[in-house]
Amino acid sequence: MTSIYAGSMKTLPQRGKFIYDVLTTNFIHQNQLMFEQFGDFNWIEWGSDRLYNVANAEVAHDILVKKASSFYKDPGYRDQQGGIAMVLGRGLITSDGAHWREHRKLVAPAFHAQRIHAYAETMVDATQKLMQTWEDGAQRDVSHDMMVLTLRIVAKTLFSTEVEADINLINRVIEQFQRIAVEQLFPSWLPTPSRIITRQVTHKLNQRIYEMIAQRRANGGDNGDLMAMLLLSTDEDGNRLSDLDVRDEAVTLILAGHETTSNTLSWTFKLLAEHPEVEARLHAELDAVLGGRVPTLADLRQLTYTNMVLKEAMRLYPAAWVIGRQALEDVEIQGEVIPKGAILNIYTYFIQRNEKYWDNPTRFDPERFSPENEGRINKWAYIPFSTGPRVCVGNSFAMMEAQLLLATIASRFQLSLPTGHSVELNPLVTLNPKGGLPMILKERQPILQPS
Ligand code: HEM
Repeated sequence: MTSIYAGSMKTLPQRGKFIYDVLTTNFIHQNQLMFEQFGDFNWIEWGSDRLYNVANAEVAHDILVKKASSFYKDPGYRDQQGGIAMVLGRGLITSDGAHWREHRKLVAPAFHAQRIHAYAETMVDATQKLMQTWEDGAQRDVSHDMMVLTLRIVAKTLFSTEVEADINLINRVIEQFQRIAVEQLFPSWLPTPSRIITRQVTHKLNQRIYEMIAQRRANGGDNGDLMAMLLLSTDEDGNRLSDLDVRDEAVTLILAGHETTSNTLSWTFKLLAEHPEVEARLHAELDAVLGGRVPTLADLRQLTYTNMVLKEAMRLYPAAWVIGRQALEDVEIQGEVIPKGAILNIYTYFIQRNEKYWDNPTRFDPERFSPENEGRINKWAYIPFSTGPRVCVGNSFAMMEAQLLLATIASRFQLSLPTGHSVELNPLVTLNPKGGLPMILKERQPILQPS
């Protein structure tokens, strides 16, 4: 355990310089240098608090699993004035304690295997609809396309709504949502431009969601979707969830349920374009299993390489690249006493690239996740969906969706990067490709095996 700038960031000018460095330089690169120099578990002094940086799997496991009850989400999530709770309210991601426990119990059944399996067809249909707008030889912003596609899917599967009219509004909210993450370094009372715009666009989105809630309450029926579950459920005293509670969970699931999967797919297409040998093997599997038709749920078991490719892409580019916590009490972690109030940043990005746990960590190698090799992986060093009680509630939904979308798209199109285009990281709330992901589409014909 090493202290980096111990004592050096107590004053405002010192913190200002740090914020300036973070905003103007490559944040990921800066963090990498920090871990190289000071080890994979270190801390800096941040005003009156300590800020711990974690790229160590054992430390992450202690915080997220073994001693999870000693930690809350960090204030960057919970702060309704300057944190992501400005948009998400007190939904599953941003709440803690009894409120979180009750709501997790309500939402989790919507993600049981039986229920999500019913969504497979909707996922494939939406992808085919998108591909009808794709033309051979055209250049598209694939990151934007994946964002719209996954948004349509989450709205349709969980809320039975088409979001065509609201896509621009939701995209504006996402854009701001990403910006406020960076501005969390400023005190939360400061009305930064992003915070002002965030409030405005969130207000508009709330109006739309409250309209939807009012309509559904007026109709009264149970169409079996997540929205119905939220509207009809009662707490231990028999009280229904308030409109505000339903809004908070709905916005949480819409935002958490599409941005992450969309970024995962974007990174996967980027990696495939850079690794033709992996891409060729993926195409061969898709052609052999699907023979040119669209995938169904039943095919997923056979699409093992497709799954390996996704898992490896999520190792190198975890959409949730950093997970934040705050210590509720003094707590000992791997011999170090973390003081009450300390903030901890657990960098999945760096744990999953730490050479302590991974051979040749920066190499894109789906073979790590083959049925023979996967058992050898240190499970604590692979946590793209986090782990412990706060593990992603939508992880099976996300894996099924990513596998179906990748299979549907890659069997029909080959995506390549424009010559000379290098993709940069944009590490905001989620890890996305900076400025989008321009890719050139080439229609492909499946190579069918003689029967
Ligand atoms: C590849 C896609 C996804 C990734 C990488 C991902 C990652 C994560 C991670 C790392 C967390 C834990 C955050 C923390 O502990 O601070 C989380 C939580 C959560 N995710 Fe996901 N997620 C994905 C897709 C989804 C989907 C599709 C949904 C819903 C439709 C979803 C809904 C949620 C919710 C509600 C939580 C909060 C759970 C709780 O604290 O009880 N996620 N996700």
